[in-house]
Amino acid sequence: MTSTVSRTGIAPRDNGAPPPDIPLDDIDLGTIEFWEWDDDRRDGAFATLRRESPVTFFETPEMAGFPTGAGHWALTKHDDVHYASRHPELFSSSPTSTSLNDVPVEVAEFFGSMITLDDPRHLRLRGIVNRAFTPKVLKRIEESVAQRARAVVTDFVEAHNNGNGDFVAEVAAPLPLQIICDMMGIPHEDEQKVFHWTSVIMGAGDDEASGGLDEITRVATELATYGMQLAEDRRAHPADDLTTNLVQADLDGEKLTSAEISSFFILLCAAGNETTRNAISHGLVALTRYPDERRKWWADFEGVAGTAVEEIVRWGSPIIFMRRNLTEDLELSGVRMKAGDKVSMWYNSANRDEDKFDSPWLFDVTRNPNPHIGYGAGGAHFCLGANLARREIRVLFGELHRQLPDVVAVEEPAILRSAFVHGIKRLPVAWTSPN
Ligand code: HEM
Repeated sequence: MTSTVSRTGIAPRDNGAPPPDIPLDDIDLGTIEFWEWDDDRRDGAFATLRRESPVTFFETPEMAGFPTGAGHWALTKHDDVHYASRHPELFSSSPTSTSLNDVPVEVAEFFGSMITLDDPRHLRLRGIVNRAFTPKVLKRIEESVAQRARAVVTDFVEAHNNGNGDFVAEVAAPLPLQIICDMMGIPHEDEQKVFHWTSVIMGAGDDEASGGLDEITRVATELATYGMQLAEDRRAHPADDLTTNLVQADLDGEKLTSAEISSFFILLCAAGNETTRNAISHGLVALTRYPDERRKWWADFEGVAGTAVEEIVRWGSPIIFMRRNLTEDLELSGVRMKAGDKVSMWYNSANRDEDKFDSPWLFDVTRNPNPHIGYGAGGAHFCLGANLARREIRVLFGELHRQLPDVVAVEEPAILRSAFVHGIKRLPVAWTSPN
């Protein structure tokens, strides 16, 4: 293996060092400006909240095009997020779970599909898609994930014989994109469209990533239309893909409509793309900042991969929060909330909770146990794609280990201005020579 991890422009860090202390009065999750803070200051702010005010009421940040509506109770402790996730009868996902703003119910349901529904309808819909994510099906696509990952890294190396490139666009993004498109039966030539669409939708709040409100509106319409057409096409021409499964699925004697399938399509494209992409990018940043952890992993790739992949998801926490809506008056961590109140569950904060993790500020590829809740806390809405994401992350880092063992980030990551997605927009990297 080539030896160095030295050509890095990323500030070196003491692994395990706590973030800066941020006074409670300086913290306002109710402004979008908060989400321009860098990761260290964000981490420092949530550490203060956990310590001094674990359940706090904040206004909802203004977002162009969406009514702001009432504020929300921010749950920042692992135990509270866990409790809320495991009690959907008290913490409902309807009318929406992915936005703090007041999105009209029809819009939320269309763009959120089952993630914004409660049981029993949620469970019935989940039951249909579930079949695409069973261990048996994942085993079947394992080889294609491996081939895709190999090709992504090989293409990247070949495209940049100067040893420099953008890791996000060329490595972290294409793998999950290709896999979810394969699963849905989206033709290869449309992959870039899907990439653009999901980046715009999940980039809402960051005009550079989303192109602004007009572009979001245009893309939302295009996505919905594409999903409907795909469903219609599979109705007429069944194929061996998830879209056909959805078209043929029987829901208590009823078929899903093309609009319902389109809404599944949007959820799966968005959930399948952005999350894993960001986990992979955060993983590379962490391995750059903490070269000893890279050495530990690379010295026994297969032996360490299981814990390393979990630690990457804890560390990166690619989805920052989910929202719930209280169905009854309730007290949590000594704070009384009322039926109808919005509640936000901060996974990023729970995943650094000092009461749950030994040395939470240590990026440790061998961390065990690691009770992180990056995929949700195991409730009704627990991430359906968790095993697929684990596979993708593992295989992609396996290829980096094999083909580009010394690849490092050479600039600080450009962080997405978003409360929802812990995104990295660009990550210039360099390497010395392919293995
Ligand atoms: C590292 C990658 C990923 C992370 C961090 C992540 C995170 C999450 C989180 C936090 C939730 C909400 C849990 C809750 O509300 O209790 C969720 C739900 C979901 N995820 Fe993921 N996800 C990832 C990858 C994927 C992939 C690859 C797919 C599909 C291809 C996927 C599909 C879904 C779906 C369909 C839901 C909604 C489940 C439901 O409402 O029942 N996710 N994910």
